[in-house]
Amino acid sequence: MSSVPATTSHAGIDSVLNEDRVFPPPETFAKSAHIKSFDEYKRIYQQSIENPEQFWAGIASELKWIKPWSKVLEWNPPYARWFEGGQLNVAENCLDRQIALGRGDKVAIVWEGEPVKSDLSAGEVRKITYSQLADAVNRFANGLKAQGIRRGDRVTIYMPMVPEAVVAMLACARIGATHSVIFGGFASHAILDRVEDARSHYVITADGGNRRGSIVPLKANVDEALKQTSLVKKVIVLKHTGNEINMEAGRDIWWSDVIAGQSADCPPEPMESEDLLFILYTSGSTGKPKGIMHSTAGFLVGTYITTKYVFDLHEDDLYWCTADIGWITGHSYVVYGPLANGATVFMYEGAPNFPDFGRFWSMIQRHKITILYTAPTAIRAFMRAGREIPDKYDLSSLRLLGTVGEPINPEAWMWYQQVIGDGRCPIVDTWWQTETGAIMISPLPGAIATKPGTATLPFFGIEPAVVDRDGNELPTNKGGLLVVRKPWPSMLRGILNDPDRYVRQYWSEVKDCYFTGDGARRDNDGYFWLMGRVDDVINVAGHRLGTAEIESALVAHDAVAEAAVVPMPHEIKGTGIAAFVTLEAGRKPSEELKKELINWVGQQIGPIAKPDQIRFAEALPKTRSGKIMRRLLKELAHDGEVRGDITTLEDLNVLAKLRQQEE
Ligand code: WT7
Repeated sequence: MSSVPATTSHAGIDSVLNEDRVFPPPETFAKSAHIKSFDEYKRIYQQSIENPEQFWAGIASELKWIKPWSKVLEWNPPYARWFEGGQLNVAENCLDRQIALGRGDKVAIVWEGEPVKSDLSAGEVRKITYSQLADAVNRFANGLKAQGIRRGDRVTIYMPMVPEAVVAMLACARIGATHSVIFGGFASHAILDRVEDARSHYVITADGGNRRGSIVPLKANVDEALKQTSLVKKVIVLKHTGNEINMEAGRDIWWSDVIAGQSADCPPEPMESEDLLFILYTSGSTGKPKGIMHSTAGFLVGTYITTKYVFDLHEDDLYWCTADIGWITGHSYVVYGPLANGATVFMYEGAPNFPDFGRFWSMIQRHKITILYTAPTAIRAFMRAGREIPDKYDLSSLRLLGTVGEPINPEAWMWYQQVIGDGRCPIVDTWWQTETGAIMISPLPGAIATKPGTATLPFFGIEPAVVDRDGNELPTNKGGLLVVRKPWPSMLRGILNDPDRYVRQYWSEVKDCYFTGDGARRDNDGYFWLMGRVDDVINVAGHRLGTAEIESALVAHDAVAEAAVVPMPHEIKGTGIAAFVTLEAGRKPSEELKKELINWVGQQIGPIAKPDQIRFAEALPKTRSGKIMRRLLKELAHDGEVRGDITTLEDLNVLAKLRQQEE
């Protein structure tokens, strides 16, 4: 398998990748696309950069406002306020506005559950129209109010991929409560940390979720977390998997009881443009997840317009973004962006390989899905399972493919284009982050020629650059730091409870720029090639994990004295996790202990954080000042093969000493 674009731990490295295949937009696709040619892209881009406020105001005016804004942008670096003075409601834009435009009977959500019925390999299917979705949201919103939830309250959502998760998010938006969605794959620790950081008094969850044939005990995980805090007053529980759970009298209430007798009319709360729409936690380079804050108007404007242009959304599309709502991709491109466009969204509850690797293709064939947006890690897993599987299905309904989450290696890109897209579908490789809220760099499928492995060019109104530490733009093909020069509507508004970290992390590394944490280069066509993270963040299967978080989980185990976690190459996940561990006196390295530590991290953080490799060491290599030499460990992990008996101790100090002599 060819390697992913070079990862670098510091700026100033030349990329090793040389990719010269070019795929212009298919003519028939371009003809009916929203943006039809490169000239059109260039013209609009130029205008949007010369006069960004006029550009964004034009987009914002396509939405429904309760009160118009008086100022497009107030920019006191690094604090942006967009559409000040305006009032709007995001749920009203996603529901009432769509119904007013004649989409009341249009299907908003097609959902398929994971468990398959015995006769055919299909799960339970539910279809929900915009009118039905609006009814469900209004009833639940009134129910939330009846439970005491008010505008500005923070509501934690920990749910499986079911339509009610969308209902819960929109109901919060409707009454002006701020949601904080926690990925259903996270363990109880993550719930506790996030509930406490957000000072959230309300949790919405389900009895369980279906995942790869078993039930994820969501309610039990919530119970476990809430043993450690008395903050939470109410837990609303959706009955979904039907497994037995504990209901605590006075605190826990069934979803069905919350909506019982509630009216389907709940006037949308007029929200200020800059009011918080949601908080979403993401990993950074320290052990503590950051609560990224997103605003109401800016987030809606950004996700609305990028969904329309990047996915070239048309009225009869059946659009499927495979992300979980627990990630930003789920917020922006399962819920808010598509619904603000009146799209029909496909949603699937479970795992891509349940009951086998044909599940995605079977659903695309049966539902006639037209747009598929998924992650490179999934594509690599399908690749490995073999093309005979997708080849068995009729995928001719597909017209556009997308990827997100990490750099896609050209081999996987080509496989996606040929095997899934039959050479017919353009691929949009979309670069963005939890912090950017919306897609920043991506091809527009009718306008920009693609090359395998590059996210190509910036979206309208976005001004990225590749620079050195001093902010100087680097020449073509020179690797450096990816920054964004100007504010944009869907940018983060800060980190909850940590204003200093917002400034330090994003606005201090490079002068007068937003620093992304990614390395990149631009090629001769000005295309951006992403080269991975330059900080202590590992991107595993498209999910960001802080090395420090995993290290603190390891150190919390009573056998572990010290731990250092670094990325290592992984065939399916792109990047895997290697953990170097020193043990407490009297503890002996063993294969059993390795397994125990791997599972321990899984319990502490969640299965996605499980190390792929544990390496016991007598001591960790340190600089004279006591800093762990991560670069050395990274190289060690990168070289791959563990030599000799894998449970033997590695004398890394010797290596460190050798290295110090070299330098
Ligand atoms: C980081 C953001 C935003 C959606 C999912 C991840 C990496 C994301 C790409 C891409 C190369 C990518 C970057 C970025 N990344 N998309 N198309 N090509 N790298 O969100 O957890 O906030 O992670 O994912 O390193 O900084 P996230």
